[in-house]
Amino acid sequence: MLPRITINVAMSLNGKISSESGRYTISDPDDMERVFLLRKSVDAVLIGANTVIVDDPVLRYSRCRIILDGEFKLSDKYKIFDGGVKTYIVSRKNKHIKNAQTVTVNDTGIKGIMEKLYSFGIKSVLVEGGMQVINEFLDSNLFDQFFVYVNPGLILSGKSLFPAVDKKLEYTVEECGRGILLSIKSIYI
Ligand SMILES: NC(=O)c1ccc[n+]([C@@H]2O[C@H](COP(=O)([O-])OP(=O)(O)OC[C@H]3O[C@@H](n4cnc5c(N)ncnc54)[C@H](OP(=O)(O)O)[C@@H]3O)[C@@H](O)[C@H]2O)c1
Repeated sequence: MLPRITINVAMSLNGKISSESGRYTISDPDDMERVFLLRKSVDAVLIGANTVIVDDPVLRYSRCRIILDGEFKLSDKYKIFDGGVKTYIVSRKNKHIKNAQTVTVNDTGIKGIMEKLYSFGIKSVLVEGGMQVINEFLDSNLFDQFFVYVNPGLILSGKSLFPAVDKKLEYTVEECGRGILLSIKSIYI
């Protein structure tokens, strides 16, 4: 069995989800309120190790945090390991970090990881990034809901949400704060 999977990401008008200069806020306050509600509605929020390294997030309002870190490059200096919220690190390596439980896997295929999390009682997951992690879910067509907040500004250099341009999206669109919110139902190659 698999958890219900929601992906949420914020991008600039030209499709960038990050700036090369480090931590960069793309959401606006209205969008963050929506994200907080999403976090409260799921069993766990999932991010990749690079997002921890670049953004040093705490993922406010999440009930459980899951960090994917194949090579286990994280250390306990990040705020997410300050404690208070259950935190799992999924890795091929078996290391330990304070206030986190390591889940060691031989195979880092995303479907198998989701099945494992379901067996821990995690029935719904919000995937918040970054680019590598989101694209693993998209490549496996593994999502139930996919929200993209589009900020009307441009980021000149950074990571693109969709590295390939030949994808067709089925989506609805609505206004959200200064930007727009795409609710993507399907992606076709
Ligand atoms: N705009 C937004 O909404 C938003 C949200 C979040 C993050 N971001 C931005 O995204 C950027 C980071 O993105 P990124 O693509 O560089 O990195 P990322 O997706 O955050 O993290 C990549 C890391 O995740 C690990 N990983 C990925 N899939 C895994 C799996 N199946 N099993 C185990 N480990 C796995 C990788 O480990 P290995 O390579 O060692 O296997 C790698 O260390 C940052 O700049 C951040 O600011 C933007």
